[in-house]
Amino acid sequence: MSKSFYITTAIDYLNGEPHLGHAYEKVITDVITRGRQSLGGETFFLTGLDEHGQKVQQAAQAEGKTSRDYCDQLSRSWRRFSEMLGLSINDFIRTTEDRHKRVVQAILAKLHAEGHFYKAAYTGFYSAKEETFLTEKDRRPDGTFDAVWGNVIELQEENYYFKLGVHQQWLIDHIEANPGFIQPTSRRNEVLGFLKNNTLEDLCISRPVSRLSWGIPLPFDPDYVTYVWFDALTNYVTVPVALGDTGPRAALAATLDLPVADGTEPRNDLWPADVHVIGKDILKFHAVYWPIMLKAAGLELPRMVLAHGWWQKDGEKMSKTTGNIVDPVRVIQEWGLDAFRYYVVRELDIGPDGNWTDAGFKSRYQAELANGLGNLVNRSLSMLKRYREGVVPERSDELAAEAGAVARETRECVQQFRLQAGLQAIWAFISRVNQYVDQTAPFKLAKDPAQSKRLDEVLYNLVESCRVLGVLLWPYLPSTAERIYAQIGLQESPNRFEKSEWGRLSQGHAIGTPEGLFPRRD
Ligand code: MSP
Repeated sequence: MSKSFYITTAIDYLNGEPHLGHAYEKVITDVITRGRQSLGGETFFLTGLDEHGQKVQQAAQAEGKTSRDYCDQLSRSWRRFSEMLGLSINDFIRTTEDRHKRVVQAILAKLHAEGHFYKAAYTGFYSAKEETFLTEKDRRPDGTFDAVWGNVIELQEENYYFKLGVHQQWLIDHIEANPGFIQPTSRRNEVLGFLKNNTLEDLCISRPVSRLSWGIPLPFDPDYVTYVWFDALTNYVTVPVALGDTGPRAALAATLDLPVADGTEPRNDLWPADVHVIGKDILKFHAVYWPIMLKAAGLELPRMVLAHGWWQKDGEKMSKTTGNIVDPVRVIQEWGLDAFRYYVVRELDIGPDGNWTDAGFKSRYQAELANGLGNLVNRSLSMLKRYREGVVPERSDELAAEAGAVARETRECVQQFRLQAGLQAIWAFISRVNQYVDQTAPFKLAKDPAQSKRLDEVLYNLVESCRVLGVLLWPYLPSTAERIYAQIGLQESPNRFEKSEWGRLSQGHAIGTPEGLFPRRD
């Protein structure tokens, strides 16, 4: 079985509402996934929810619900949200599932048995209100704490710690030897700088049940649940293990109690993950703690951690309290999914921070989707209907070379995760073809019977260009791409880059009915 391209997003905390940041991460992951599919590869796309921890336990209590009921209810709307984004996902994990608990416990048990953990007492300032330990940084110069922390007491607590010291050097070596492991390069440098200039502190991997019960119990000490990040990161191997992936199952065999479901064939195509797509704020967890957890447990490391930037709105941090938010659900309902997907990918390259403005969104919609792509497809197909009763004329190769060039460039961009650059290339071609309409003026040619041959040529080039665009757009705007194909009267899906080869539209083919793709909104 050849390796599937296994790609994941961060799993979202389910307290709170889905917002632009969550939607963005899933859309770029989906574009990368579909890009791989279009290149002909097998893919496996995983996303899901991070459901344990203090915040959920408190939110459930506040609503008078059990934590489980609270999660079951909210998870449904999060799941609908991922459906709304048109994601081509293969599984959706919830960390409260039994399969996940068993994999987390298998890793914990193995690390414990092999001496990676120790128990120690910690004394610190504890805020019962926020249920968290505070550090010296939280202290005011006079030694007191801000009122937001409520009553702060000095508390001694015993916990389990993961020894990280022995892992620091190999991790540095690994990052240096594998420039693609952390991307973009600026993020890689950030992690290297951190590892070279600091000594890793051991990681506390437990919480006493007396203060947090909503978590996965330590298999070797029922008085504790595991730290929510230890739990959450493991989701990426839970699914391969549960689906019967032989590599990680073998590594955990001694402690794993999770039979493969009846009828499931063993597979070896998932782990290691090819790409973990995450936001910059959780880079340290993915580029430091996660590789260490895996290595200690005898599991292969992921091939890449790809960190995207953060969105702001109108130049300010998004915040529910000030009302400065972008609600992706509302935008999609009002403008359509593909308009949303287009804007976020076109506006922000993977890496830097971005800024959403409603005016920017509308202007891209109008100029690039309605007047650019939509107008081109609509007038091309309408002219073929009007002048040739919708029947494709003889092949002509006037735009073949340019179409070939943009197809090559788009493939490359998608393969290298340069998604924004891919759209720029596609839109440069759209402008070129719109310009071709203006230059060749088919509406004038149609009035002169002596120009009939020339009109055939122009119409072929236009409709074939639209077809090629359908193929190139598919990873980005799947439903628009499918609609372009349907309007051209093609029954198949434009879901393979190889279909972008010029000349596949044959003479005599009858197209379907042109319909506006992106209605103008004035
Ligand atoms: N549950 C953890 C992740 C565990 S992964 C093993 C978490 N959840 S989160 O809901 O807070 O964030 C989920 C993802 O959304 C993260 O990758 C985060 O960076 C991303 N974003 C949250 N706000 C964002 C923006 N404003 N802009 C872009 N992405 C942002 O962290």
